Amino acid sequence: MIEKRRSKIQGWGVYATQPITKNTRVTYYAGEKIGNKESLKREIRYLKKGHIWCFKLNSRSVIDAGVGGNIARFINHSCTPNCYIHIVGDTIWIRASRNIRKGEELTYNYNTDGEASIPCRCRPGCPNKL
Ligand SMILES: C[S@@+](CC[C@H](N)C(=O)[O-])C[C@H]1O[C@@H](n2cnc3c(N)ncnc32)[C@H](O)[C@@H]1O
Ligand SMILES: [Zn+2]
Repeated sequence: MIEKRRSKIQGWGVYATQPITKNTRVTYYAGEKIGNKESLKREIRYLKKGHIWCFKLNSRSVIDAGVGGNIARFINHSCTPNCYIHIVGDTIWIRASRNIRKGEELTYNYNTDGEASIPCRCRPGCPNKL
């Protein structure tokens, strides 16, 4: 249903290889489950290389796709995304928020607080920061 390719947004991205119907569970965000404290340490290390791999699961835990991640770790952020996050227990599902055409890049909103200060390239002139 999806594959990794070079992206216009940044580096690698993930694309639909067939039409995807709204609400389909496209993939899940795999990685190591760690606590907040450990995550803060790793996030600083990753950000030095411009990477965001840590995904907040709940108030206590984070999934670090830098360790044991799957294709989901190559999905880029967009401020007008075509996917959304649905957390069920310890699983972070990435689901289609609308019908997606074959060949479209998949994106979701990272909902970061901008602390990473990476200028968002989801579209020309996007004023936001990741
Ligand atoms: C989860 S990875 C996504 C895959 C990434 N493109 C790659 O090649 O590894 C997150 C990283 O992708 C980049 N990224 C994702 N969405 C972006 C966006 N809208 N604008 C700029 N950079 C973005 C940032 O460097 C971020 O740290
Ligand atoms: Zn944007």
